[in-house]
Amino acid sequence: MSALDNNAKEIAEDAGGEGVATSSPEINQKEQDNRSAGPVILFFIIGLFASLILGWIIFPKLLYSKKKQPIDFNHVLHVAEVEDGCESCHFFREDGTYSGVPKLEQCIDCHEEIQGDSPDEIKFVEEYVSKGREVPWLIYSRQPDCVFFSHAAHVKGAGMDCVTCHGHIGESESLKIYEENRITGYSRDIWGKSIGGFKKNTWDRMKMDDCAECHREKTANIERTDVKTPTNRLIDHLIDVVYPGTSKSGKGGSIQTERDACFVCHK
Ligand code: HEC
Ligand code: HEC
Ligand code: HEC
Ligand code: HEC
Ligand code: HEC
Repeated sequence: MSALDNNAKEIAEDAGGEGVATSSPEINQKEQDNRSAGPVILFFIIGLFASLILGWIIFPKLLYSKKKQPIDFNHVLHVAEVEDGCESCHFFREDGTYSGVPKLEQCIDCHEEIQGDSPDEIKFVEEYVSKGREVPWLIYSRQPDCVFFSHAAHVKGAGMDCVTCHGHIGESESLKIYEENRITGYSRDIWGKSIGGFKKNTWDRMKMDDCAECHREKTANIERTDVKTPTNRLIDHLIDVVYPGTSKSGKGGSIQTERDACFVCHK
């Protein structure tokens, strides 16, 4: 006990020496405990914040590399110039396949020669049009090769709007920075801005779950293309509880677990 007591005294003295002379052994002991608990809690808090900052702020920054599009493109300006709106550049071919991002062919009528003095147009005409090279556009919505996606089924078949899946790119004046996931090589628009997977809009992310979520709702109601509100979900759930098997949305639980379901999107 006396050795301990001496130890405590020494530590107390090291730490500044205040209150050493008069205190009894018990008080000394208590003081020592308090002094060692303080740093532990502090280190815990520092560690907690450090890992939160690392996980939520630094990791996403390191995970994505930022790339600029080869040239900028103004949708608003062009939609006003062309005759057929979006379809002048993004159209369905005869066989029902989708043209996707436009080829030089769709631009050449207007950009054979430089029309204005925008540096992007000058670069476009000099580096691509006059050399006959296609612009290597970076595609925000590009899915892995194993995924089968058909615009015809969604746009023609189900009459869906581009905004539902792509957001407001068609009304933008400038192309945003493309962010590439260093591990998977896919665009950040697939996983979405939030690393935790939260989304506010239907177009915020487009992972397998997001496709499946909408498909499940579509089975319940072909017309609806918006995300379910929590109230609707609750009502569906209550119907399931009271009258089991009557609500269509409750059936199966997951579109992926239905028979042959994987082959809808993976051919
Ligand atoms: C004059 C041609 C032209 C017209 C008209 C046009 N676009 Fe585009 N659009 C482009 C080009 C070029 C890109 C390539 C940029 C890129 O890689 O995203 C693009 C890209 C897009 C993309 C992004 C695809 C992706 O994932 O990268 C969407 C969505 C889009 N356009 C929607 C629209 C909509 C909606 C309209 C009509 C309101 C429209 N566009 C009209 C030329 C056009
Ligand atoms: C119907 C005619 C028309 C078509 C088709 C067209 N453009 Fe343009 N484009 C214009 C006009 C007009 C301007 C404005 C020129 C100016 O005064 O600077 C312009 C400007 C531009 C610019 C510079 C401004 C900016 O930042 O967007 C780029 C780059 C461009 N066009 C690329 C394209 C590409 C790529 C295509 C094909 C996918 C295309 N254009 C198709 C008419 C057209
Ligand atoms: C149901 C969701 C959905 C809707 C609705 C939709 N798209 Fe897409 N779009 C996608 C997906 C997913 C991809 C990626 C496909 C892939 O990589 O195989 C894509 C790809 C694209 C691309 C790039 C294609 C390429 O590889 O060249 C363009 C351009 C595009 N969409 C424009 C549009 C336009 C314009 C509309 C409205 C007429 C539209 N999309 C409606 C989901 C959608
Ligand atoms: C916001 C709603 C929505 C989203 C998101 C969505 N889809 Fe769809 N999908 C539909 C609707 C509606 C249909 C048409 C259903 C029909 O014709 O029976 C459909 C049909 C399809 C079909 C054709 C199915 C068939 O039976 O021929 C495929 C393939 C498909 N979607 C793949 C995808 C993939 C892959 C994604 C994600 C990248 C996706 N979809 C995202 C609503 C959506
Ligand atoms: C509604 C469309 C849809 C259905 C149904 C679906 N998938 Fe997917 N799957 C996707 C999309 C889109 C991706 C790419 C985005 C992602 O990684 O989430 C994907 C990615 C995957 C990947 C990762 C591949 C890679 O390269 O990243 C695997 C593995 C996979 N799916 C397996 C399955 C299996 C097994 C089933 C059936 C139980 C299934 N999927 C059903 C749309 C679908």
